[in-house]
Amino acid sequence: MKYADFYSDSTNNPEEFWKQQAENIHWHSKPKTILSKDDNDYPVWFHDGQLNVCYLALDKHIEDGFGDQTAIIYDSPVTQTVKKYSYNEVKSEVARLAGGMQSLGLKKGDTAVIYMPMIPQAVFAMLACARIGVTHSVVFGGFAPHELAIRIDDCKPRAIITASSGIEVDRLIAYKPLVDEAIELAEHKPKKVIVLNRKLGARIPFKKYDVDYDALVYGSEEAACVPVESTHPLYVLYTSGTTGKPKGIVRDTGGYATALKYSMKYIYGVHPDEVFWAASDVGWVVGHSYIVYGPLINRNATVVFEGKPIRTPDASTFWRVIAEHRVSVMFTAPTAIRAIKKEDPNGEFIKQYDLSCLRTQFLAGERCDVATLEWYREHIPVPAIDHWWQTESGWPMIANMMGVEYLPIKPGSAGKAVAGYDIRIFGENGQELGPNEEGYVVIKLPLPPGTLMTIWNDIERFKAGYLKKFDGYYFSGDGGFKDDEGYIYITGRVDDVINVAGHRLSTAEMEEIVASHPSIAECAVVGIEDELKGQIPLALAVIKSGDAIEHFQLQHEVVHLVREQIGAVASLKDVVIVNRLPKTRSGKILRKLLRQIVDGVEYQIPSTIDDEAIIDEMIEVFEKSKIGSFK
Ligand code: COA
Ligand code: AMP
Repeated sequence: MKYADFYSDSTNNPEEFWKQQAENIHWHSKPKTILSKDDNDYPVWFHDGQLNVCYLALDKHIEDGFGDQTAIIYDSPVTQTVKKYSYNEVKSEVARLAGGMQSLGLKKGDTAVIYMPMIPQAVFAMLACARIGVTHSVVFGGFAPHELAIRIDDCKPRAIITASSGIEVDRLIAYKPLVDEAIELAEHKPKKVIVLNRKLGARIPFKKYDVDYDALVYGSEEAACVPVESTHPLYVLYTSGTTGKPKGIVRDTGGYATALKYSMKYIYGVHPDEVFWAASDVGWVVGHSYIVYGPLINRNATVVFEGKPIRTPDASTFWRVIAEHRVSVMFTAPTAIRAIKKEDPNGEFIKQYDLSCLRTQFLAGERCDVATLEWYREHIPVPAIDHWWQTESGWPMIANMMGVEYLPIKPGSAGKAVAGYDIRIFGENGQELGPNEEGYVVIKLPLPPGTLMTIWNDIERFKAGYLKKFDGYYFSGDGGFKDDEGYIYITGRVDDVINVAGHRLSTAEMEEIVASHPSIAECAVVGIEDELKGQIPLALAVIKSGDAIEHFQLQHEVVHLVREQIGAVASLKDVVIVNRLPKTRSGKILRKLLRQIVDGVEYQIPSTIDDEAIIDEMIEVFEKSKIGSFK
């Protein structure tokens, strides 16, 4: 099949194209309407269809005779455990957990927060929610109670499902006390907290709202799948935006299931039966789409990996997992490859494993630098495919569609638009730019099925953030350009969102927290280049006049504040004290200029700058602090 033909089918007649793709999943009631509009005039797919995603992920395969096939491979170097679960076993546990949740009063229309480490029970919890129509919101375990509380207050869960603890390399993280703290902080109080006791570390005091996970599963009857409307929110997943408040991206059910099934075949080129491994976390969109729903709907065995690319125990782990479980297609973030490359530059560990099972390596989550791609290609003889997407899209938007036609790779580009996405590059005034001209990456509406429906409880923010900038187009928040062959190069975010080790974070949120320090009069947080993590945050602080706080103490306190409020994952480690910040004449901080100076890249002094002399001042401070390119 030719990519060009496939692509034009998708854009020439999207309704027919997606109607055909929707045939590849089972509907309790098939949609008669393929594309329509919601009350806000926003496109909606398959609105009168009914289905259940847990049914697609489990029961359907069992009914088709594949119950004994492996569904989940749990590989946990941090607990030295490998355990496989068949589709039958997963269904039995999920259905009883769902039954238990029903007995606690959870039903379609409710929400539940899941805050768990990378263990199979996190997947069971998601599927159990989907089974009974409960909308889940998974919160990444690296977020602190304050962040968890913000999400609790926004999505108002009836229950939280958690585990007693997780392990970060060699450090026990007690999850349950973090949940208790979050509940104290939040105004909304969930009725129940279902706790999986992992029996690691100290016993955790029992609270009145606690329910033991194991007792609930073993004491409950199996719940049947509850068919839901195609537009029923399967989940809300919070992601960082340009303000301090995270955005709850709302995912539908029918469009998402259709898109995931499509993407497994045409983008990832993975066949049912094969082992698929997305080395991410269920707390991120990658985890939702490609640890849980995508591979299970496609009847793959999915790897749930509780470890890191390095230090668990070393840089050989990824290769061991691939070889041991015969992984066919893998997904990871470039930062993970950079971490491995740093520890094992000559790929000595790679030589120790039989990686003949591996067919394709996908990379995403951040820009893939050419050096990382080249290192991978030098050491592992399979295509390494950069591809671009976001929490909002739920599945890839730019890629080399491996199940359609393998196109030549151009390092630095994430490939061409995936069939279903009409991607354009726009200038500031909404004019379409020509080849190799850099601008805003936008997508013509309607977006294909499975992409965001709205922002939870905030339709105005949804419209303002994504739809208002360019009428009739979705604004991605990324910049980039297209070459004359249609390859798209993503150059980075055009807003205050940064990407730290594949984790999306908001500098605006960090700024609010840094600014709350009593000694700080004013501050800016910018994402600067980092060899390992891609970007890391740097805080620049102006001290209140008369305040004599020492740099070391301020840095210590600010780092602590950010870890306490957002979590360790924010990775804010550097604070520089400055006398003033570069601003425009109207008082806007010139963050981009600051970032460019620290990164040592070419910059243009904005004509709106208040005082050019500040640039030399900044350079002097960065030289003294040995920050960024001034190291
Ligand atoms: N629970 C609790 N803490 C967590 C956590 C979790 N689930 N995940 C990360 N953290 C903590 C870490 O322990 C670390 O704490 P520290 O500052 O006290 O050491 C901090 O958050 C930063 O973690 P991380 O960004 O993971 O950095 P690292 O130095 O531990 O590891 C990498 C670096 C590159 C190996 C790691 O970031 C990695 O594997 N990245 C790939 C990310 C990825 O796959 N993203 C998927 C998106 S597609
Ligand atoms: P998230 O929503 O956490 O998946 O982060 C999405 C953001 O990560 C995008 O808007 C991009 O800025 C960045 N991103 C993801 N994949 C890529 C990629 N392949 N190349 C460049 N940037 C990427």
